[in-house]
Amino acid sequence: MAASYAFFSPSVPSSTLNSRISPFLSLNGSGFCSYLGISKRVFCSSIEGAEKHAAPGVSSTESRASRLINRGCKLVGCGSAVPKLQISNDDLSKIVETSDEWISARTGIRNRHVLSVEDSLVGLATEAARNALQMANVEPDDIDLVLMCTSTPEDLFGSAPQIQRALGCTRSPLSYDITAACSGFLMGLVSAACHVRGGGFQNVLVIGADALSRFVDWTDRGTCILFGDAAGAVVVQACSSEEDGMFAFDLHSDGDGARHLNLSLGHDKIDAAIGSNGAVTGFPPRRQSYSCINMNGKEVFRFAVKCVPQSIEAALQKAGLNGSNIDWLLLHQANQRIIDAVATRLKVPPEQVLSNLAHYGNTSAASIPLALDEAVRSGKVQPGHIIAASGFGAGLTWGSSIIKWG
Ligand code: ACO
Repeated sequence: MAASYAFFSPSVPSSTLNSRISPFLSLNGSGFCSYLGISKRVFCSSIEGAEKHAAPGVSSTESRASRLINRGCKLVGCGSAVPKLQISNDDLSKIVETSDEWISARTGIRNRHVLSVEDSLVGLATEAARNALQMANVEPDDIDLVLMCTSTPEDLFGSAPQIQRALGCTRSPLSYDITAACSGFLMGLVSAACHVRGGGFQNVLVIGADALSRFVDWTDRGTCILFGDAAGAVVVQACSSEEDGMFAFDLHSDGDGARHLNLSLGHDKIDAAIGSNGAVTGFPPRRQSYSCINMNGKEVFRFAVKCVPQSIEAALQKAGLNGSNIDWLLLHQANQRIIDAVATRLKVPPEQVLSNLAHYGNTSAASIPLALDEAVRSGKVQPGHIIAASGFGAGLTWGSSIIKWG
């Protein structure tokens, strides 16, 4: 895994990286969007698979370097799970001044599922993971890596090892958490691809799971209407480069935008039981707890409709494809108006856009695998279909991947 850091160091010239890393890998870069003047990118892909799907006339200059990759990876199973407790817009209108009409017109959301006190996010994530493993026909002992993408872990030291244990993986595969809010699942996918291509991993379980309901201010109608809890998972499996189904990624972050969307430590919780030691000022430190989601909805909306289409276009270009090659557009399910605006900008017709946020709201890192799982199980997404997936959210973070199902 020593080479993995290189994928996440966009400031290092790619020529330097390419000379340092294994011949299984190739890094590359291309033009992309910049939000508030700052943008970064990570890219690792295999173009060979994508070339089969390219429209006539679409050239892939980047593909030559990428032919060095002789190990592909593909998506072989998905699963999801949602809590039983459902909260409708009408339920919310009883606790804040809002209405079903306002929420559905402004967001497309009608319902969401919320963890109750006796539920656990680890339990939900484990259920989603089990469903994905079952579809993939992969046994828990055949998993090499568990990636838990979440911003709401029940243990700040990480939840992935607990999921690994709950799944009954007796071989103790590597397990760790990834925190990137609503882009977390996309970051998990690129990490899985890098581990497979560069690290020789065979089966990687990527889970996106969040319980933002635990961090929502239920008196703030500007945010509490948006979020729900869920878990989704996929199994990424190693394959030959001919079968490769993860064509390209385009990832970014912008810490300056964090002021528009954050969930930071509160400053008002003093542990009164512990006094100062009288010698060192500011010690012991105050015990702090997380506050609630703080969001400037308009800014986040603007950021999403600007950056997401640019990111998808950049990923398509890296894959040597164009919009006409994709079967499905699968965006982070935040707001139907964002989904519609991005689809319009990319000229993707509504019947090729996956959307289920009416039933679940914004489930953060879970939203992409949850929507994928529903679409696969309902027969919409078929083996061989090309999906342009894009996540965006707090950080700010955003990114896209061009993937083939099955
Ligand atoms: N019910 C009724 N009225 C409301 C509600 C509500 N729930 N919320 C706000 N309003 C009112 C406001 O007070 C305002 O009233 P005013 O004109 O009298 O001042 C009016 O409606 C318009 O409010 P806006 O905030 O301008 O509404 P907007 O159209 O921007 O919609 C929303 C708000 C839905 C939050 C939208 O901005 C949005 O979806 N933003 C993107 C959020 C997002 O995608 N987040 C993703 C990342 S999440 C993550 O990473 C964790």
